[in-house]
Amino acid sequence: MPLAYLNGNYLDQTEAHLPLTDRGLLFGDSIYEVIPVYHGQPFQADAHFARLQQGLQAIRIANPLSPSDWLQIITTLSTANPAPAQAIYLQITRGAYAGRAHQLPEQPQPNLFAFSKTFTPDPHILQHGLHAITQPDVRWHRCDLKTTNLLPNVLALADAHEQGADDAILVRDGIAREGTSSNLIAILDGILTTSPDSPELLPGVTRNLILRLAAKAGIPCARRDVHVDELPLADEIWLSSSTREIAPVTRLNQRPVGNGTPGPVWQQVHALYQAEKTNPDDA
Ligand SMILES: Cc1ncc(COP(=O)(O)O)c(C=O)c1O
Repeated sequence: MPLAYLNGNYLDQTEAHLPLTDRGLLFGDSIYEVIPVYHGQPFQADAHFARLQQGLQAIRIANPLSPSDWLQIITTLSTANPAPAQAIYLQITRGAYAGRAHQLPEQPQPNLFAFSKTFTPDPHILQHGLHAITQPDVRWHRCDLKTTNLLPNVLALADAHEQGADDAILVRDGIAREGTSSNLIAILDGILTTSPDSPELLPGVTRNLILRLAAKAGIPCARRDVHVDELPLADEIWLSSSTREIAPVTRLNQRPVGNGTPGPVWQQVHALYQAEKTNPDDA
């Protein structure tokens, strides 16, 4: 039975429950983090803990645990799951509040829970890439915080699926911001290009690592906004996330990206990323 962590206890996932007055459930008043674990080794854990800390601070929840406590939970859950690649979800809500009022409780008692989800790279995507469509970004202006307010992302993905695509690239003010659960990287005129950090997108741990690996390999990189009109001119487009790793987008709005197959820069950086997973060298 899959194991869950809930407020200091480990129990079967089906037996882990939150009260219906939990503010995460009622208001999306919660932060989460997703940490990949490969063959028992958490990957980029410090960067994930740093983002968790920043997110909690921004929404005024004191981090209830230290990084070593979180690491202990990750180890226990990942040991219980034999899958070689898994993602550990750490979730913190502001807790239950019987009054069901918007105002912040004076003495919040956060609810913490965590669970493991197995993931496997999709060989079809690695060989042929994804089909993405562009969609309006209707999210709030604090997309840099990893909160559970994910309904716009969920609906944009549903729209993409209804249109026969695999994912959506979210566009606001003419700028292609990110995917529904991933960052956006484009190869434009041979330059690996991705937006600077801003409140309009999540500062992806995977994207940061890609930038470091690419720079180390001598690939020219630029941090600047990508206008939606530039996307059809891109040689390559990628979506990056901890569980997706680096997915090539080979069709955009029904048209091929580049020559319609995963491109040479993706091949190079994907290989560097795979090597980093097996042998992290503090890139
Ligand atoms: C909206 C959004 N952007 C970007 C990312 C990529 O972040 P990371 O690379 O840290 O997983 C995610 C991950 O889930 C996401 O949900």
